[in-house]
Amino acid sequence: MKITNSFTQQFDIQFPIIMAPIFLVSNLAMVKAGMQAGIAATFPSLNYRNDGELESILDELNAEQNNSVGRYGVNLIVQKSNPMYIKHLDICVNKKVPFYITSLGSPKEVIEKAHSYGAKVLCDVTNIAHAQKCYDLGCDGFIAVGQGAGGHAGNNPLMLLVPALKKAFPDKIVIGAGGVATGDALTSILALGGQGSSIGTRFIASTEAGVNDGYKEAIVNSSMEDIVMSTKISGTPCRVINTDYAKKIGYTQNWFERLLSNNKTTKKYFKMLVQFRGMKKLEQSVAGGSYKTLWVAGKSSEMVEDIRTCAEIIARLKQETFQSLDNLRDLIKA
Ligand SMILES: Cc1cc2nc3c(=O)[nH]c(=O)nc-3n(C[C@H](O)[C@H](O)[C@H](O)COP(=O)(O)O)c2cc1C
Repeated sequence: MKITNSFTQQFDIQFPIIMAPIFLVSNLAMVKAGMQAGIAATFPSLNYRNDGELESILDELNAEQNNSVGRYGVNLIVQKSNPMYIKHLDICVNKKVPFYITSLGSPKEVIEKAHSYGAKVLCDVTNIAHAQKCYDLGCDGFIAVGQGAGGHAGNNPLMLLVPALKKAFPDKIVIGAGGVATGDALTSILALGGQGSSIGTRFIASTEAGVNDGYKEAIVNSSMEDIVMSTKISGTPCRVINTDYAKKIGYTQNWFERLLSNNKTTKKYFKMLVQFRGMKKLEQSVAGGSYKTLWVAGKSSEMVEDIRTCAEIIARLKQETFQSLDNLRDLIKA
């Protein structure tokens, strides 16, 4: 069984889920599993930083695309402090990536280049003002990143952000992200007028995720109270598991770091430095064996109870969504 709406039709997929881009976690096996299961599966281009790596991943995914019922897409961090942005965009355009998710900046170049060959662009947004800018640039839709999402989360509850985006931009696709790890939660986004959900944290606790078992188990064992916001990793508020190391380093930048982050001359370079140092810490944590453990995750960890293959996770999400829709239909009495 499929679900059909404007998102599944425009993206030519069978079920309205995006396997969200997850820095240092998304990999080829996960994306292929998502495509084979009929969803849209993505990864951040920054997971492939060595020369030639991104090109060969895209070649493999383009070959897979011919045999699968899903789609793949690439996430580009379109921030000036991302030194690989333009290089990665050019590689993706050259390889004709089917769709993009942009985050943390202006998606102008991505939209122009993607549309030149018919690819789609969804922009991460956390509020209406940012969405308006993306709309004016001609995006195809939004990833509404709401409260509780893993990574760089928003402040607004999806219960408001999704319908508010739909009201302001009725012709655009709206995908809710943050807090979705079950079919009931996905159904709630469809009920709010959204067209699907982008799911991250749930897929970290997957067999295919190439992270250490401690990270996967921490997601299974963390409740929503164990997830805290920190500006220590990238300078931008980011949700992490409240490990002993997260507690030790604190959650906010000190006065000197804030000064360098806000000063016109130092801003860009300091942000790059913070991001580089944060990335190194995350890389060590993801690989395991470091006591300086910083694990990024969303509050949806509350609902993650096991480590399964991506195919099993998606099959269960589908089954739960159909069940949830049936349950709602049963409420209607003549
Ligand atoms: C560990 C981790 C890393 C992430 N990395 C990225 C990233 O590189 N780019 C991006 O646009 N979003 C990133 N996100 C956000 C996800 O794409 C997605 O919006 C979020 O996971 C949705 O909330 P959920 O975790 O509750 O499912 C990340 C999320 C997590 C948990």
